[in-house]
Amino acid sequence: MWLSLIYARSENRVIGKDGGLPWRLPDDFRHFKTTTMGCPVVMGRRTFEDHQSVLPGRTNIVLTRDPDWSFEGVTVCRSLDDALTPYRGTDREVFVIGGAGLFAAALPQADRVYETVVHAVVDGDVRLPDFDLSRFEPEVLMEHAVDDRHPYAFTVTRYDRR
Ligand SMILES: NC(=O)c1ccc[n+]([C@@H]2O[C@H](COP(=O)([O-])OP(=O)(O)OC[C@H]3O[C@@H](n4cnc5c(N)ncnc54)[C@H](OP(=O)(O)O)[C@@H]3O)[C@@H](O)[C@H]2O)c1
Repeated sequence: MWLSLIYARSENRVIGKDGGLPWRLPDDFRHFKTTTMGCPVVMGRRTFEDHQSVLPGRTNIVLTRDPDWSFEGVTVCRSLDDALTPYRGTDREVFVIGGAGLFAAALPQADRVYETVVHAVVDGDVRLPDFDLSRFEPEVLMEHAVDDRHPYAFTVTRYDRR
């Protein structure tokens, strides 16, 4: 199994606002879609409830401690370990797609991190904890300028564990 994190954060490490994303950046969304397509995606219950629908073409795994929570087409797990166990020993790439607590919990065992830095300081109510990426080798995948569809410039970097 390859364990990957994928997220977009602002310069001040904001990732969420009012239950959703603080920005609309279609080309970063496209990067998220093409990178995760065909792979299992693991997310917290609030991240799932942000979009309220299954991400198509991917096994959707939602973590919750609520024994009554369910959603058609979603695999529900009680812990990150429960979510990852079926994939250990396989050659699958599994993505942790948020939120903040899950990113922090998954980082110590992550093989790869796809980080989008949105070049702005924005308001929000969910922040990414400080991450030590010094054990990872960075490779810039995309530098995107402001244009009529993108109010902020952003940089996408892939970090592979050394
Ligand atoms: N910018 C980005 O890349 C990005 C990515 C993802 C999300 N977001 C944003 O971040 C916000 C949501 O993130 P969040 O951090 O508030 O919440 P979250 O991590 O999506 O969801 C938290 C909930 O997930 C469940 N959970 C989390 N860790 C668990 C574990 N280890 N074991 C069992 N259950 C666990 C719990 O659900 P129960 O309460 O049901 O037990 C917990 O209350 C939204 O605004 C979303 O749009 C942004």
